Amino acid sequence: MQTNSWYHIHTALYHTCFPLSSSVIWDYDASNLPHKNRQDKGPPGRGAFKRIVQLSPTLKTKPDVSSFGVDFTDHMLTIEWSSTEGWKAPLIKPFGNLSLHPACSSLHYAIQVFEGLKVYRGDDNKLRLFRPMLNMNRMASSAKKACLPAFDQPEFLECIRRLVEIDQDWVPHSYNASLYIRPTFISTEQSLGVKKPCRALLYVIMCLAGTYFNTNAASLWADPKYIRAWKGGTGDCKMGGNYGCSLFALDEAVDNGCQQVLWLYGDDHQITEAGTMNVFLFWINEDGEEELATPPLDGIILPGVTRQSILDLTRNWGEFKVSERYLTMSQLCSALKQQRVKEMFGSGTACMICPIRHIAYNGQVRNLSNIYKEEI
Ligand SMILES: Cc1ncc(COP(=O)(O)O)c(C=O)c1O
Repeated sequence: MQTNSWYHIHTALYHTCFPLSSSVIWDYDASNLPHKNRQDKGPPGRGAFKRIVQLSPTLKTKPDVSSFGVDFTDHMLTIEWSSTEGWKAPLIKPFGNLSLHPACSSLHYAIQVFEGLKVYRGDDNKLRLFRPMLNMNRMASSAKKACLPAFDQPEFLECIRRLVEIDQDWVPHSYNASLYIRPTFISTEQSLGVKKPCRALLYVIMCLAGTYFNTNAASLWADPKYIRAWKGGTGDCKMGGNYGCSLFALDEAVDNGCQQVLWLYGDDHQITEAGTMNVFLFWINEDGEEELATPPLDGIILPGVTRQSILDLTRNWGEFKVSERYLTMSQLCSALKQQRVKEMFGSGTACMICPIRHIAYNGQVRNLSNIYKEEI
C-alpha cells in the first residue's frame, strides 16, 4: 500500500465498496411518490403490512450543507410498539416534535439505542445506501441489550427506503455531502420503575451531512484514567448512554489541545477506539510483516460498518496482512520509535477515514505527521 493509504481506502470505500456485500442499491422513480395520506401496501410477500404516509403540506427551503445534524428533512418515520398490541402501522409524517410522558424511561434511564447511516447520490444521480442491513443487524442487537423489542429488519429497512424516497430531493448533489439517516429506538414506558419497557417508539429522522473528510488529521488524547467500555458492558452497542458519558473525557481532551480521545483499556493500555471511530494501524509488525491491524470485536469495540468494509476491502486486495488483534500503547510507541508505523487512522460513517496525526500520551506528544504527505 502506498503512502496516504487511508486516502486510497477512503476513495475505494466511496467508489467501489457498494458491490462488496449485501449492499442495497435502490434506484428511485420520482413519478412514484405517494399521494397525501394514502396507505402504502408493504413490500411483496408481506401483504398484511400497511404504511401510512401523511405528506407535509409545505416543504422547507433546503439550505446549503453546513454543519452536521442541524438541518432536518421534511418527513420522519414513527412506529409505536406496546407489549399488549405489538407493532402499530409505520407512519411517515411531517417532521416535528415528539410528545413524551415526563416519566418516560428513556429520559430517566437512557433506555435508548440508535443507528447512523448515509444515503449518497452518485454521478449517475441514483441514490445508494451503504450496506444498510449491517445497521439493521447492529440496531437489533443493541435493542436486545436494552430490553427493547425485536423488529422485522427488512421491513424496517423498507420503511426507511420509503422515507428516503419521499425526501429524495434532500440528498445533496455533491461528492462531499450526503443525507444522514438516524434510526432511533426509545422506551416510552411511562413510569419511574427501572424495568423492561412495555411501550417503545422506533423512529427515523434524516439530516444533511457535509464532509468530515479534510486534510486536517486528528489529534488524540490518550489517558487510561477514562474508559469508554468494559467487558460485560454495552460498548459494542449504539446506546445513547455510551456517548453522553464520554463527554467529560472529550472535554479534557479539548482542554489539552486535542480533538478526540484515544480510548485505552486494561493495565497494558490497549488501544480500542478513537473518539467515535474504530481505529486502524498500518505498520511493520513485531515479526517484520506489513500489517493492517484493528482491535478484535471482543465486546468493548463497536462493530463498525466502515471497519468491516475496510477489512473486507483490504482482505480482498490481498496486498498485506490484515488482522483483528490487540494493540497496546507500548507496541505503538516502540513502533513509532523504530519508524515502523506507516499510518494510523480512524474509521466511521461520519468521516469514512480520518488520519491520525498526534497522540498525547504519558505527558508526551507522539507525532505521526511525518508519515503523511501533505498533498491529497
Ligand atoms: C463508538 C463508535 N465506534 C465506531 C463507530 C464507527 O461505526 P460505523 O462505521 O458503523 O459508523 C461509531 C460510529 O457510529 C461509534 O460510535
